[in-house]
Amino acid sequence: MPLTRKAYRAAILHSIADPAEVGIEASYEYFEDGLLVVDNGKISALGHASELLPTLPADIDITHYQDALITPGFIDTHIHLPQTGMVGAYGEQLLDWLNTYTFPCESQFADKGHADQVADIFIKELLRNGTTTALVFGSVHPQSVNSFFEAAEQLDLRMIAGKVMMDRNAPDYLTDTAESSYLESKALIERWHGKGRLHYAVTPRFAPTSTPEQLTLAGQLLTEYPDLYMQTHISENLKEIEWVKELFPERKGYLDVYDHYQLLGERSVFAHGVHLCDDECARLAETGSAISFCPTSNFFLGSGLFNLPMAEKHKLNVGIGTDVGGGTSFSLLQTLNEAYKVMQLQGARLSPFKSLYLATLGGARALRLEDKIGNLQPGTDADFLVLDYNATPLLGYRLQQANNIAETLFVLMTLGDDRTVLQTYAAGNLVHQR
Ligand code: GUN
Ligand code: ZN
Repeated sequence: MPLTRKAYRAAILHSIADPAEVGIEASYEYFEDGLLVVDNGKISALGHASELLPTLPADIDITHYQDALITPGFIDTHIHLPQTGMVGAYGEQLLDWLNTYTFPCESQFADKGHADQVADIFIKELLRNGTTTALVFGSVHPQSVNSFFEAAEQLDLRMIAGKVMMDRNAPDYLTDTAESSYLESKALIERWHGKGRLHYAVTPRFAPTSTPEQLTLAGQLLTEYPDLYMQTHISENLKEIEWVKELFPERKGYLDVYDHYQLLGERSVFAHGVHLCDDECARLAETGSAISFCPTSNFFLGSGLFNLPMAEKHKLNVGIGTDVGGGTSFSLLQTLNEAYKVMQLQGARLSPFKSLYLATLGGARALRLEDKIGNLQPGTDADFLVLDYNATPLLGYRLQQANNIAETLFVLMTLGDDRTVLQTYAAGNLVHQR
């Protein structure tokens, strides 16, 4: 295959470390007039345009952007494909919300045609918001995952997904059995895990909707295949936590249920964790597990305020998640806008560079993919965004008043949304153009 080489010139910013560990200034690299060189879908060079240009052939194809910022593609560490059609459902908190809105909406995925249609809408929505990798819940139906991966494969996206396992405390029309969930998950793993840039996640919905037998088999799948992911929900809502105590009285607490069934580990991502205690954070950190912080959802469902400083104290891996449709936006920029307010309400600050980290390198670390995505180091996948400083009149005017990249970044995260994403590239291919 002939080498396809392209270069992109603009302001370029990426995270290289967690600000909580190295301080803000050492956590990022910024090139005011930068150049990103892409060879065959991978980044081959990154630096100041003035230094890199003389090293490149004179006829290299360069796209030059004015008033724009190149960043890594965003990573959404928690989102539900079959909830695309129910974002913004009125009036309920978690358990009633699930019964009233979520389960009926997810039941439509029994139909493969419906799953195909929503997968197409969902992937377009991810890309127009600059999300190039997501950890995705399907419905209980295997076809939800087939539709999603079929669409993601066509665009050579790096995506992770799994079929929900749910064999109790849900309507009959939406439950599997411990055995069928095991066999269906296994068939999906065989078909998709490691194909191109796709990965599979074993997906027990949450402790209340799985029997001990199902949780045991979920743990068994993780031991049978290397590098599988595990995703579920934890400690999101106080009534949910009480229910888990009733269902599993023999366990020390919510996390201990998952721990008992061997569901913790380096590729395990737990959504929400709003009400985790210190010991649980320590255990998550010890096992290399990660939390997905879902601010728009935690506000919308009235779940509570995630304690990011506590997670940082334990050196816990944290990524950011939209949790659509409990969350109210596909935009990670808008999700970071809300994350900032979560910290404000707790008397803490969320620096724009920590926010950038959460949406890129932090997410990649939560998913153990930092050698492939979440930053622009040479050798990584060319998944990147071009953000437009003039996306709206207000944004353009406001950014004229910004004095440095910290202010620019913070304003992008406060005023930005899907309109801000001018272009999205995945594996070097243009997959969204505004
Ligand atoms: N807990 C169990 N299922 C769900 C879900 O679909 N969304 C949210 N936010 N929490 C859950
Ligand atoms: Zn969720």
